[in-house]
Amino acid sequence: MPTITFVQPTGHSDTVTVSEKTSSLMRAAVANGVEGIVGECGGQAMCATCHVYIRPEFEDALPEISEDEDEMLDCTTAERTNRSRLGCQVSVGAHLETIIVDVPTDQV
Ligand code: FES
Repeated sequence: MPTITFVQPTGHSDTVTVSEKTSSLMRAAVANGVEGIVGECGGQAMCATCHVYIRPEFEDALPEISEDEDEMLDCTTAERTNRSRLGCQVSVGAHLETIIVDVPTDQV
């Protein structure tokens, strides 16, 4: 089962283990009450409140950023960097059993 670690700006981290059926980083965070991941639009890539920073060692395991995700990443409250992704667009599962992401300082 996929294990995801969310690291807060304070350094506090939450590690959650989720079912293979959990579709995304955003859903894993919301289902486990992880602070700082809102997911306001429900995963439609329309709000950017699921913004996360992917740790560099996991970048190669992720799909390319779609045009819609790229446009929405320009709307994040916290600074967009080359590690930014929308948590709702990053799926977890057999292809990605473990990942560590940093939670931004602000989402809204
Ligand atoms: Fe809205 Fe990801 S939940 S963009």
